[in-house]
Formats: sequence, structure tokens, C-alpha cells
Amino acid sequence: MKVHSKFVISAADAAQFPPPALPEIAFLGRSNVGKSSVLNSLVGERIARTSSTPGRTRTINFFEIRRAGKPRAELMFADLPGYGYAKLPRSVTADWPRFIEPYMHERPVLALGVAPVDSKVPTQASDLQLVAWLRNAGRPYVVIATKIDRLSGNERTVALKRLSADFQVDRVLPYSAKTGAGRDDLWRAIWDAAAIVVPQSA
Ligand code: GTP
Ligand code: MG
Repeated sequence: MKVHSKFVISAADAAQFPPPALPEIAFLGRSNVGKSSVLNSLVGERIARTSSTPGRTRTINFFEIRRAGKPRAELMFADLPGYGYAKLPRSVTADWPRFIEPYMHERPVLALGVAPVDSKVPTQASDLQLVAWLRNAGRPYVVIATKIDRLSGNERTVALKRLSADFQVDRVLPYSAKTGAGRDDLWRAIWDAAAIVVPQSA
């Protein structure tokens, strides 16, 4: 299905968050796991900046999402900075708690946390903390095993089993921002979480 995306604001402070008017999908996780790339692959546009160097996204960037043919936006995407990358300078990360924590705790419209984890990297304590936090806060979330294009068929099966055991979830969604694998399944999870009815064939 074709969607249109529109950049709304880069927020470095909770006061800059857009009014909570639309169901919101947040892309959360450690630096460099591929959050911004997942967002771009969903909308089919390079609207969020990505980089091979961790720490690319440094503010919470909001994008309105509108389905083709619909008169107005129905969803908001929020691309968050990554956390837990020890090599980032303090000057970059010092302010993050001031706006990332309020976002996670208080954002009333958060409908789904999309938590990409790098399928090739062993699970880190901070990955587990994020998912535990979402679970304890009663926030709906989906763990996605991204960069799955970098694994062979058998490695994929092993990685998905390992990840669902690590995170104690029934389902980890295999995903590749590079090939588009998993894109339809993730869209379905997003529409479901936002309680938007989308025809199966769309
Ligand atoms: P921060 O904003 O720094 O927290 O990073 P991020 O989580 O937004 O990661 P980003 O999307 O910038 O991607 C990090 C690196 O991973 C980039 O070099 C991407 O090209 C690469 N990457 C992301 N997704 C995929 C994927 O599905 N497959 C492969 N092969 N590479 C990917
Ligand atoms: Mg990013």
C-alpha cells in the first residue's frame, strides 16, 4: 500500500512534541540497530537520516503518515535517537534523558513501540531493559529481528529462536530494510495497534 510521509518536527525537548492527535508508532532501540532504516523502508522514502556511524539520530523526529487517497494523516511515526552506545561523547548523550524519558513515560498517544534488534548481534542488557520497560508500562510493542538479509536461511531460524527466548515473546518478526522482507507483516502490526482497518488486499 502506498503511504505519504511528511516531516513534522525535530524535538529536542518535551515541549516541542507535536500535539497528541494521532496514534503514534515509535522506533526505539540501541544506536545503529537500524531504527531509521526500518522507518524509511516502511514509507518507501529516505525521509529519516541513516548512517553507518552510531548516533545519527539525535532528536525525536516526527513524521505524519497518510494513506494514498485519504484526505488527512492517520498516524504519526516517531524516530528516536539510539541509546546505549558507550562510544558516543557525553556532549551528545547528556540531554537525552530530558526528552527521551518523558516521551517513553508520558506520551499518551503511543500505540506501538517498534523495537528493532540487530539479528547478527548477541542480545545486550540494554535491549532487554527496553523491552522490559515497554512490557511493565503496558505499552504494546513488537520486537523485530532486523538486518536479516545478512543471515543465511539456517542462521535466521537460529537467530529468531534465540531472540524469542531472550525477550520471552512468542513472535520476533524477521525484517530487512534492505530487501523489504517483513514489511507487510510490520505494517499489519502497525495498523492493528492503531486500530485502523485496512483491507487485506491493500
Ligand atoms: P541511530 O540513529 O544512530 O541510533 O541508528 P539507527 O538505529 O537509526 O540505525 P540506521 O537506520 O541509521 O542504520 C545503521 C546502519 O545499519 C546503516 O549503515 C544502515 O545502512 C544499516 N542497516 C539498517 N538496516 C539494515 C538492513 O536491514 N540490512 C542491512 N544489511 N543493513 C542495514
Ligand atoms: Mg536513527
